Amino acid sequence: MPEHTALVTGSSGFFGGHLVARLVRDGVTVTGLDFAEPHNPLPPGVRDLRIDVRDAAAIRAAVLDVRPEVIYHLAAQASVSVSMREPVVDIETNVLGTLHLARAAAEAGTARFVFVSTGGALFGEPAVVPVTEQLAASPASIYGSSKLAAEQYLAVALAGTATALSVVRPGNIYGPAQDPHGEAGVVAIFTQRMLRGEPVTIFGTGGQQRDYVYVDDVVEATVSAASGTPTTCLIGTGHGTSTQTIFDTLAAVTGYGQPAIYADERPGDIQRIWLDASHAREVWGWEPRIALSDGMARTVDWFRSRV
Ligand SMILES: NC(=O)c1ccc[n+]([C@@H]2O[C@H](COP(=O)([O-])OP(=O)(O)OC[C@H]3O[C@@H](n4cnc5c(N)ncnc54)[C@H](O)[C@@H]3O)[C@@H](O)[C@H]2O)c1
Repeated sequence: MPEHTALVTGSSGFFGGHLVARLVRDGVTVTGLDFAEPHNPLPPGVRDLRIDVRDAAAIRAAVLDVRPEVIYHLAAQASVSVSMREPVVDIETNVLGTLHLARAAAEAGTARFVFVSTGGALFGEPAVVPVTEQLAASPASIYGSSKLAAEQYLAVALAGTATALSVVRPGNIYGPAQDPHGEAGVVAIFTQRMLRGEPVTIFGTGGQQRDYVYVDDVVEATVSAASGTPTTCLIGTGHGTSTQTIFDTLAAVTGYGQPAIYADERPGDIQRIWLDASHAREVWGWEPRIALSDGMARTVDWFRSRV
């Protein structure tokens, strides 16, 4: 969908920064929206709004002013462990914030609403992996529950309007510029600590398996979600990788010699999940392109140049 106007919420964050850069390269007129300053500078020419998605009036005014053809909604309380400690903030941001945007989008006549949900936190501890879109959602965390509720409220709020809905459900996104100080984003956290020679903690035994998908691949899926069939797709590689394997691979790439420190698992964390992205391949022509070894090497290169 070239030459359109887009509003990207969560534009100051990890994934938002990558998405904005990609849209600008595609010739899209982009407005960013976030309540925090950008982690990394946004490209020149991007209008950048400081707004809290929980502020319904400010969201309505911004969307009616920008009148974007596409809204990419990424702004979120994005940490499972924070959601368990601060459920109200999580629900206000992820559920109410999303509803405010949906209502504004419908009023502004936005053609497509792309919601970045979650694939890894929607299904609790699935009996069978990889999971598909046919599996009933059954989250084990406040974060997963709020993303599921947001998906459901979006479907209701946008039904019968001119705004079509696409939902992207990614696995664990990793890549350059991810926040290494947060509680989620194990690749960024391990990489930065290893490059600095600091101790690295694994929560649990290291046997927990997740579907790690490189940020550029998720950006591609998200762009396809705007121009392709409006539907809901899981976005992952179809493979599980253990936290221990992530540790060992990054230790080898960075030359880190210290053993991992093991600590108690965190509430809400899942033991084993990976995602079947066949539906995304069929409807959006999407496939993951970056292998984990390549993606981790690119990530380490980025952090190495900044440590
Ligand atoms: N990183 C992952 O592994 C992953 C996996 C699946 C889905 N997601 C989803 O992708 C999206 C982006 O995640 P990310 O990894 O870039 O996280 P991030 O924390 O880097 O980005 C989220 C952004 O949302 C902003 N934000 C939070 N609360 C806000 C509010 N009330 N008003 C306005 N802005 C607010 C933050 O300032 C931040 O810039 C999120 O919706 C997240 O749930 C991430």
